[in-house]
Amino acid sequence: MENGSLMVNVAVFGSGRGSNFQAILNAIDAGNLPGVRIALVVSNNSSAGILEIARSRGIPALHLSEKQFQDERSFVDALLATLQQYGVDFIALAGYMKMVPSKVIKVLRNRIVNIHPALLPKFGGKGMYGIHVHEAVLAAGEVVSGATVHVVNEEYDRGAIVLQRQVPVRPDDTPETLAARVLLVEHEIYPEALRLVAEGKLPLDKRSVPNH
Ligand code: GRF
Repeated sequence: MENGSLMVNVAVFGSGRGSNFQAILNAIDAGNLPGVRIALVVSNNSSAGILEIARSRGIPALHLSEKQFQDERSFVDALLATLQQYGVDFIALAGYMKMVPSKVIKVLRNRIVNIHPALLPKFGGKGMYGIHVHEAVLAAGEVVSGATVHVVNEEYDRGAIVLQRQVPVRPDDTPETLAARVLLVEHEIYPEALRLVAEGKLPLDKRSVPNH
């Protein structure tokens, strides 16, 4: 990405169905993300829906998992080489169920974001994923929940917040009904956050994955 312009080459990482990725694609199709190009989709799960969505659009889609490698270092080297090969200068985690290796975070400092289905810093951290987040929100008696896009750093769910949007918690909510309401705002704010990135409104100062 160059200042004041043009294209951010985004890799989307996910482990599951890929509805946030689909929302990003919809925003691109609608012409709302002129500065965003999806360069690559990566999943640790070979049967993830997110890979199928990418393939159906002709977007490079790779199954890359630490389990395919002898050790973490080989995995990280392969991952960084792949990102470099595809000219990736930004990563959007969309339901990625693995920690991003710290070396990748270092190489792409402030250029990795994640979406979390609660109003961080509440209801984040270890064990707070999927339906567990919404169970915890209901158990705490919260009257609002929501979604957060945040920068990924070495501390789980603790990086700078880029965008948040609230939804009401209803007295008759189950974790599933709350999850569905939150997901709707996830699908709004993730494309909006990427738009901020492409417009240069986040402090992103380098481009592409350098030699490492
Ligand atoms: C979303 O709820 C997101 O907040 C969380 O994982 C879920 C991914 O859903 N990190 P999808 O794969 O984008 O449909």
